[in-house]
Amino acid sequence: MAPATSIAVIDRNRLYTDVMYRYQYVSDFIGFNDSDIAAVKSAAPLIAPLVPVIVDAVYDQLFSFNLTKEVFLQRGHGFQGQTAANAAELTTNDEQIKYRKDFLAKYLVKLVTAEYDAKFVAYLDRVGRMHTNTPGKASKINVEYIHVNALFGWLHGFLVETVDALPELQGPENTAQRAKVLAAFSKLLWIQNDFFAMYYLNDEQRFVGKDADSTLSGKPSRFFGWISSSVIIGGFAVLLAVGSSFYFTTIASA
Ligand code: HEM
Repeated sequence: MAPATSIAVIDRNRLYTDVMYRYQYVSDFIGFNDSDIAAVKSAAPLIAPLVPVIVDAVYDQLFSFNLTKEVFLQRGHGFQGQTAANAAELTTNDEQIKYRKDFLAKYLVKLVTAEYDAKFVAYLDRVGRMHTNTPGKASKINVEYIHVNALFGWLHGFLVETVDALPELQGPENTAQRAKVLAAFSKLLWIQNDFFAMYYLNDEQRFVGKDADSTLSGKPSRFFGWISSSVIIGGFAVLLAVGSSFYFTTIASA
């Protein structure tokens, strides 16, 4: 007999009402644990000097495409200075962009130094939410998810190449540590991505409080609709067949 495998029971409703519970579930599923947090933190002294390079590269990337560049024409939360009048005038050296870069730098430092506690998880959640049109947030920006996903993909590639090439992580004695750090960053980005994606998807409305069938099909009455229309059409066909055979038997015997 196959050995019984344990199964974690997740409360679907809590995924949408309890940020810490959601973080824990996604982390457990992804396999982001204390050893990954330790790996991320161990890389802090190596990442810290690279933060300005990463931040500049992120903004250069965002400014390489019209749709992502144009988002930065809008006045960001907390910025009081001069903003560019149009995309042609906007550069990565503008006061507002320098201001934004400071926030991104602080974010990156937090990722590698913070305690991974409720306060930090609330921050990851706030960063994701800030990019969407969710009511009640301070920032006025509303970024389409296609760009967020694209930036995550790009950032992932950039970080992997950068970390992989760190001289401190070369040599056979560092192979395992390098792999651990790379995997930990990768998992962390996917966790942050969940705190973006959840504000773009309407999964809460589609899945919370629905019965088991609707969560399987994603559309409440599709399966039952298919069954009932098949029964009606099938029944109608049987009636037709019985009716016509009766008719022809009657005609033939007349
Ligand atoms: C990998 C995905 C992304 C990450 C991790 C990220 C991270 C952040 C962080 C940490 C902040 C500052 C939070 C703070 O103020 O403490 C921020 C703000 C901002 N981000 Fe992103 N971001 C991402 C994608 C994007 C994209 C794709 C755009 C535009 C196309 C964008 C535009 C902005 C803008 C305009 C602000 C300033 C919002 C305001 O203060 O009003 N972000 N982002």
